[in-house]
Amino acid sequence: MVDISVDLGFLKLKNPVIAASGTFGYGTEFSPFIDLNRLGGFVVKGLYREPRPGNPPPRLAETACGLINSIGLPGIGVKRFLKEVFPQIKGLQTAIIINICGENNQEYASVAEYLDSYEEISAYELNISCPNVKKGGICPAQSPEETYEIVKLVKNSCSTPVITKLSPNVTDITEIALSAQEGGSDAISLVNTFLAMGIDAKTRKPTLGNVLGGLSGPAIKPIALRMVYQTASAVQIPVIGIGGIMTGKDAVEFIIAGAKAVQVGTANFASPDSTLKIIDEITAFCKEHYIKQIQDLTGTVDLNS
Ligand SMILES: Cc1cc2nc3c(=O)[nH]c(=O)nc-3n(C[C@H](O)[C@H](O)[C@H](O)COP(=O)(O)O)c2cc1C
Repeated sequence: MVDISVDLGFLKLKNPVIAASGTFGYGTEFSPFIDLNRLGGFVVKGLYREPRPGNPPPRLAETACGLINSIGLPGIGVKRFLKEVFPQIKGLQTAIIINICGENNQEYASVAEYLDSYEEISAYELNISCPNVKKGGICPAQSPEETYEIVKLVKNSCSTPVITKLSPNVTDITEIALSAQEGGSDAISLVNTFLAMGIDAKTRKPTLGNVLGGLSGPAIKPIALRMVYQTASAVQIPVIGIGGIMTGKDAVEFIIAGAKAVQVGTANFASPDSTLKIIDEITAFCKEHYIKQIQDLTGTVDLNS
């Protein structure tokens, strides 16, 4: 028997695979295709206090080995989420994580406070790292001070555990990760998308309505893996690895680099049951390599030559 459950300290997951925010809707969109109860967890689409329309189309463009998006965080806002979506997902036997967004620090705290009494919510994930909202792709996760301020304010506003989602668009990821830890974050997830651009040579127009967007998918995997390794080596809190995970082997690599759990994003667009295949492949890998507990693999990268 292989035990693929993981313990983040504040949250136990039945397996290390979590569907990533913005690639899995509110969960309900995927329930006709997969049994959501099989997931370690899923992160809902980013929620602001009020509904938002998002960015102008086109919002998605394919690249050689990934996807550029400038969705711009459209959403139904917290009130409609609680009324229309939450009753459909709250009974699921999986971790429900709410991705929180804000125009300013107070909005992050206000959304966290608003949802805090719902015990079916396992954790919040603070999206301080979306490159598609402000002009030029600037986000709070590019500043250690802003990261610290938002995390601290949110932690003081709620009792739900907080995962801080970091941006890869920085020089030193460990500096930002340490600020999130200092602000009281319970865990870190990384990475969000890489600031990117596409151009159609024939029309000379950008491939996205917003001009700039965020790159995800297999193209970013080695850079994300490097950042997860650096972050996990620097902080004491659990790290959740994200970036181009398409197979169980990819997930295992992130765990060996130091992640306790992983998130799967772009793969959900390739096939709605990607997360379940990845779970099965992780189990098969453990059996094949006589690993009794997946947790034993975290941070076991062998640096000896
Ligand atoms: C279409 C799309 C929408 C996304 N929306 C969100 C979002 O609402 N909140 C968030 O934190 N990340 C969002 N992301 C980032 C993903 O959750 C993930 O961090 C990123 O895509 C890297 O993982 P991947 O290579 O497995 O896709 C989005 C990504 C894509 C492709």
